[in-house]
Amino acid sequence: VVAQEEDSDLIVNDDLGYPITIVDDARPPIAQFLRERDARFVVLCDSNEHVYALARTIARRNRACLGVYAFPLGESRKRFSTLERVLEALLASGADRQTLVVGVGGGVASDLFGFAAATFMRGVPYAHVATTLVSMADAAIGGKTGVDLKSGKNLAGVFSDPLAVFAHVDALQTLPYRSLREGLAEIVKAAVIEGGDLFDSIETLSPHAFWRWPWTEVVAHAVKVKTMIVADDHKEAGVRELLNLGHTFGHGLELASGYRITHGAGVALGLRAAGLLALRTGRFSREEHLRMLATIALLGMPLRTSQRADNVLAAMYADKKKRDNTLRFVLPRAIGDVEYGVRVPERHVRAVLRELERAPEVTG
Ligand SMILES: NC(=O)c1ccc[n+]([C@@H]2O[C@H](COP(=O)([O-])OP(=O)(O)OC[C@H]3O[C@@H](n4cnc5c(N)ncnc54)[C@H](O)[C@@H]3O)[C@@H](O)[C@H]2O)c1
Repeated sequence: VVAQEEDSDLIVNDDLGYPITIVDDARPPIAQFLRERDARFVVLCDSNEHVYALARTIARRNRACLGVYAFPLGESRKRFSTLERVLEALLASGADRQTLVVGVGGGVASDLFGFAAATFMRGVPYAHVATTLVSMADAAIGGKTGVDLKSGKNLAGVFSDPLAVFAHVDALQTLPYRSLREGLAEIVKAAVIEGGDLFDSIETLSPHAFWRWPWTEVVAHAVKVKTMIVADDHKEAGVRELLNLGHTFGHGLELASGYRITHGAGVALGLRAAGLLALRTGRFSREEHLRMLATIALLGMPLRTSQRADNVLAAMYADKKKRDNTLRFVLPRAIGDVEYGVRVPERHVRAVLRELERAPEVTG
């Protein structure tokens, strides 16, 4: 249950059995959490100047802190080579099996530091302080950690739940738009899955400047959608697949473009593609489809691509989420009513991919 504490903007979500604290300034609740734990800890962070400054404040004047270690991250560094450096740093800090690892940063940090904590001395407790929209609304939640391999993203890792997650919402103030947009794509996805208030509020907010958005509530709402789905299906055997809405197409587009199409842009295009496929197969109404597209367009996310249908289709088959060489889709029946595991004839998929090469008729 999302508990809104009186006279405070602090929102704590406990659906997954660990607290996810969403608040403008997460430093006081982090300090309290560390005080209550009363054990030694190490801070690992992305070396981005804003993230590093936050990490230093967390460690400041706390004698239980064994040190702050900063690593240049980014997707290209979400690799075993960085993991090894992180593990060596943990050892050098004097950390042992009881030491808490506090990771600070975006989705790369939560995947990589979470994986490091899960494997250091066969596993030490981990808490994450999220500083990007992707990590607040998605990456830091649900216990998936890991690194990329040469052959593809997120191909090695473990499920490992953190002890606590903190979304330091003030961090969004320094986040570049291109990173914010990555997270917005996942939030729109969550809004299409959930429908109701979340979709309505994103739709209403979409024409407004981002600094005016009530980010704490928006993040809390998106987190609620993810935690409810993950709580039902921790290891992705079924209903967690809903979270892949827009991702079958999205991953194919990312891959086919050699990652020039970012994950967020791929998800935005993938949402349009899922909508088109649902329209074609008689599931979705044109009116709702256009509502979804208008919101995506207002948020500055792409709706058309020059990627060739054949290449994208081949990439979709190559993607790791395929099963027995069959593509399965997550498709909307309505905003707020999404089904997963849907198989459709390939000619429809091809037709949709060709349609993606053209701009939509109406974008609101
Ligand atoms: N495990 C999961 O369930 C899951 C889910 C979604 C995404 N992910 C992973 O998340 C990663 C993407 O996450 P991301 O978009 O946060 O990328 P990221 O961690 O690389 O952060 C994006 C950029 O923002 C910078 N940054 C971080 N905080 C900042 C701040 N407050 N102000 C200014 N700059 C800041 C970083 O240095 C980086 O350059 C991918 O590797 C993806 O696979 C994982």
